[in-house]
Amino acid sequence: MTDTPSVYVTREIPEVGLERLRAEYDVAVWDGKLPPAKAHIEQRLADLSADGLVCLLSDEIDGDVLDASGDLSVVSTFSVGYDHIDLAAAAERDIAVGHTPGVLTETTADLTWSLLTACARRVVEGQAYVDADEWETWGPRLLTGPDIHGATLGIVGLGNIGTAVARRAAGFEMDVLYTGRSRKPDREQELTEVGVDATYVTRDELLAESDFVSLHVPLTDATEGLISTDELQQMSEEAILLNTSRGGVIDTDALDAALEDGWITRAGLDVTDPEPLPADHPILRHAPERLVVTPHIGSASIGTRNRMAEMAAENVIAGIEREPLPHSALADAGLE
Ligand code: DGY
Repeated sequence: MTDTPSVYVTREIPEVGLERLRAEYDVAVWDGKLPPAKAHIEQRLADLSADGLVCLLSDEIDGDVLDASGDLSVVSTFSVGYDHIDLAAAAERDIAVGHTPGVLTETTADLTWSLLTACARRVVEGQAYVDADEWETWGPRLLTGPDIHGATLGIVGLGNIGTAVARRAAGFEMDVLYTGRSRKPDREQELTEVGVDATYVTRDELLAESDFVSLHVPLTDATEGLISTDELQQMSEEAILLNTSRGGVIDTDALDAALEDGWITRAGLDVTDPEPLPADHPILRHAPERLVVTPHIGSASIGTRNRMAEMAAENVIAGIEREPLPHSALADAGLE
């Protein structure tokens, strides 16, 4: 036993973050490809009497995990989302919780646009067509899709990522609608400055009028199943639905029915419910013609993942020093 504080890390995060932690602490890392079982995390925290825990969005962090080491002072998630952590339980125990906001905004907006263009212009279907050796000639009707330029983009949740997605619409001369709990004049101003006029509308109006509906809300009790049968039926039959937020925001069975019965044209998902989506999940029968799915890679640029690792380490260091975290999830959730 040493007096050096110890930190348990539930996956191999980018080296730059591990190096920062190893310079200060005894660090143990789960090196499996799949997440460790919750019981294993508890056991390791107990064995190490861990002072810090770095976790991922795929680890459920509840009161049992928080109690496993008597010494835990900080949980630092390698994600901006913290719906996998029982924040109230952490606050009760005076355990700080850090996350990585801001850094992945632009990268996730880029991926949202990758899905948007892939869905509209049938990119994945085109690749499958070439791979299947079906490309015999140029075809006047081959793989046609809707125009992106000049279309209407509907943003559900004009937060950081929603705004970054809307900003990119300037280059495509799109009309932008947005909806959310309230109108956001500051965001509208920010967008006006880059040539995007964003109009605040009701959710019903947005669903009915948008060619592309892009979801950018956190997963909470209020947003779980936000897009279900009624909402999908309000959308245009030509519309494309995009989700790079959390899978639970869409009712998967309702989306399956919408794709089956043609209530909407196509969907592009980077997040799913369930997640991971098994290859034999029924909704995948719509891919790639009506559905494009990527495996939750919204933040997966090399630079962003490195910065997330640094931020996760900075949160741990502050938490163990009992200093305010540079990026506190408790503060951002109004619990501090
Ligand atoms: C997050 O951080 O919450 C994203 O979903 C994954 O990077």
